[in-house]
Amino acid sequence: AILIPELLKTLPFKVFATSSIDALVHAVESSLSPKATAYTKLFGYKAIEMIITSYQKLVDQGKEILPDLMSDFLTASNFAGLAFGTAGCAAVHALSYPLGGTYHVPHGESNYAIFTGVLKNYKKIKTDGELAVMEKYLANLLNCNTDMVYDKLEALLNQILPKKALHEYGVTKQDLNDFTDNVINTQERLMANNFVPLNRQQIYQIYQELY
Ligand SMILES: [Fe+2]
Repeated sequence: AILIPELLKTLPFKVFATSSIDALVHAVESSLSPKATAYTKLFGYKAIEMIITSYQKLVDQGKEILPDLMSDFLTASNFAGLAFGTAGCAAVHALSYPLGGTYHVPHGESNYAIFTGVLKNYKKIKTDGELAVMEKYLANLLNCNTDMVYDKLEALLNQILPKKALHEYGVTKQDLNDFTDNVINTQERLMANNFVPLNRQQIYQIYQELY
C-alpha cells in the first residue's frame, strides 16, 4: 500500500491500471454489499465518482496528465478501502481468486476480468434495490442510459487496461468447473457480501460468459 503521492511518480502504468481498477471494484462491491451502511456508501460512491472522472480525464487528455491525477486516485483508493473495510468485498473478488492464483494474474487485472460479468448477472436476478441506485449513479457519470452502463464502463476501462477473455489467460473448460468448486468451498466469507446470493450454476454461468 502506498500512502504518499510522491512515491507514485515512477509507478509503471500497468501497475497503476490494475491497482486503480481494483480500488474501483472495492468501491462498487462494498456499496452493493448487504453490510453497506450510509457511512460506507458515502465513501464508496465518492470513490467511484473520483476514479471514473479521473479515468475520463486520462482518456481525454492523455497519459501524461496522470501525475496530476495521482493524488485523487490515492484518496479515492483510500475512500474505497474505508468502505470495504466495513462492508466487505464480494463475488468479483471471490471469483477472481482462482484465476489469479492458478494463472498468476495480478489481483486488479483478475478482478477486472470478472467485474462486469458479475454485475450483469446480478442484474439478471434482481434489478431493483442498490443495483438500481448504482446503475443510475454510473449512468450519470458515464453520460448514458442505465441499460448501457456496463458496456460504457467496460469501454472506458478498456482504454486503461484491455480486458481479456478467461481463455486468453490459459483457462480451460475444465477450469471453469474447478474454479466454481473452489469458490463454493473456499470463498464463503466473500460470497456472503454478494448483492444477491449466487448458487453453483450461477457462478459457473458467470465464468462461462467470461470464457
Ligand atoms: Fe482487491
